[in-house]
Amino acid sequence: METVLSGMRPTGKLHLGHLEGVLKSYVEMQENYRAFYMVADWHALTTDYENPGGTYESSVEMFKDWLSVGINPEKAVMFIQSAVREHAELYLLLGMLTPVPWLERNPTYKEQKQELKEKDLSTYGFLGYPVLQAADILIYKADKVPIGEDQRPHLELTREIARRFNHLYGSGFFPEPKEILTKFPKLPGIDGRKMSKSYGNALYLTDDEKTVEEKARNMFTDPKKTRKNDPGNPDNCVVCAFHRVYNAGNSEAVISGCKKGERGCVDCKKELAVVLNAALEPIRRKRAEVDADPGRVNDIIRDGNSRAAKAAAETMDGVRKLMKLG
Ligand code: TRP
Ligand code: SF4
Repeated sequence: METVLSGMRPTGKLHLGHLEGVLKSYVEMQENYRAFYMVADWHALTTDYENPGGTYESSVEMFKDWLSVGINPEKAVMFIQSAVREHAELYLLLGMLTPVPWLERNPTYKEQKQELKEKDLSTYGFLGYPVLQAADILIYKADKVPIGEDQRPHLELTREIARRFNHLYGSGFFPEPKEILTKFPKLPGIDGRKMSKSYGNALYLTDDEKTVEEKARNMFTDPKKTRKNDPGNPDNCVVCAFHRVYNAGNSEAVISGCKKGERGCVDCKKELAVVLNAALEPIRRKRAEVDADPGRVNDIIRDGNSRAAKAAAETMDGVRKLMKLG
């Protein structure tokens, strides 16, 4: 059986962009893979080291979101990165053989340093971000890594590091992992930009019915369509993008009605809120179960951490031998 590993930084509650972007792949892949899903709390600290308050609480929140979308702890190993100290050991050892220029030319690194200007990211930890990520992946000898587009450079670096390790110490020890880019469609945020917490344009898994209705009402539509009977351009409309995903059986009718000027935006948004709430209903129900039993969440975390640590320890035995560390 092939192994899959993926991780997410615990940066707050998850939204529909995460659901379509990677969580659905997580749920699908747990059926046919030896699956490891990790909360990357150390990675969160690479940018938030000045304000680490609440990292553990955020990790628990992320676990709850994962459970609510159907990640099943009996099928997948769900764990917290910082609980498996072996990741740090492999990170250290991979650092020995990773050339600094590989890290400096990483486009994600350059971009983020630009974007997050308010933080001082000229740190060793931030430069080493992809080395830590490589350790996360290689320590489980993962074959596949479901990720978003922005993470591709990190996966390329992981493969380069794996190749270098294999070349130096033992051919074939680490498999070269392949990325799995989501086959699910991209969802815009309410304002048409990329859905993101920092833009304040997201629909969260934990939003209640009223909130979803309100957010649907506020979605950007074709600005040229101001009256019900104006023909519209659905390709220029956030509401339509959501209809395509959550109202797939009916989206052709939505599109043609819009184009012909037979459909008003107010009704179109109301209909959307209904299907969105229907899609979120099972997630809300699971979430309520999870919230009602915090002891169970703690057990799941503890159990996942120890299963992950066992697998990681096995790989580290091999790594230490190959690197002549006794
Ligand atoms: N860097 C990833 C992100 O920000 C999170 C992550 C950490 C990760 N370790 C990983 C993703 C290993 C895939 C595999 O989304
Ligand atoms: Fe968008 Fe619907 Fe209005 Fe067309 S009718 S512009 S698809 S909200």
